[in-house]
Amino acid sequence: MKFFLDTADLDEIEEAASWGALAGVTTNPTLYSRIGGKIDGFHDHIARICDVVDGPVSAESVAMTRDDIVRDGRILASIAPNVVVKLPIGVESLAATKTLAEDGVAVNMTLVFSAPQALLAARAGARYISPFVGRVDDIGSDGVASLEEIVRCIHNYDFGHECEIIAASIRSPYHVTAAALMGADIATVPFGALKNCVKHPLTAEGLAKFEADWEKVKNA
Ligand code: E4P
Repeated sequence: MKFFLDTADLDEIEEAASWGALAGVTTNPTLYSRIGGKIDGFHDHIARICDVVDGPVSAESVAMTRDDIVRDGRILASIAPNVVVKLPIGVESLAATKTLAEDGVAVNMTLVFSAPQALLAARAGARYISPFVGRVDDIGSDGVASLEEIVRCIHNYDFGHECEIIAASIRSPYHVTAAALMGADIATVPFGALKNCVKHPLTAEGLAKFEADWEKVKNA
């Protein structure tokens, strides 16, 4: 499973890229607004992320009709060769996905919560599908079970084009493990959760012991 970072924060992206395991980035309007992003600077900001990341960078369109989505998607895709156009699933975005995919533009279909949504996205030509985990947990349902259903359904078929599942709305190392066990292709992880993936209480305990014992060696 590959790791994407779920953020629009360049410092976080640069830091995670330096760890050597970063394969891509996903952004959305909420994440861009969280860093104080302005409409005018959006395309430049995506371009800067694309320079830092050696992999796909999802930039979301907020257009509502198929024609507007296709127009916006083409503009987003022209920012850099590694831009992926991110679209929330719906009738208009499915129609736009078909057109964009025929043009060779990669689409990441987002806000996916069910197997039928995922199957429709794949049939329309989406290059990536992003089922959400944490937000399903948030409403008292089972996000991991929902992701697993989607992964199984998508992996049952050949859609005639490459189609990878991005486990999204990831909140914890447990979500990452569950996504990897079920064969999700990618997990897009917020920076805080990614840092937690590096940690383990026994690692911390072992490190403290190594340090204490090395002090003994130095003083022997
Ligand atoms: C998907 O790519 C989204 O950016 C994302 O994972 C949203 O998750 P959230 O529930 O943390 O907002």
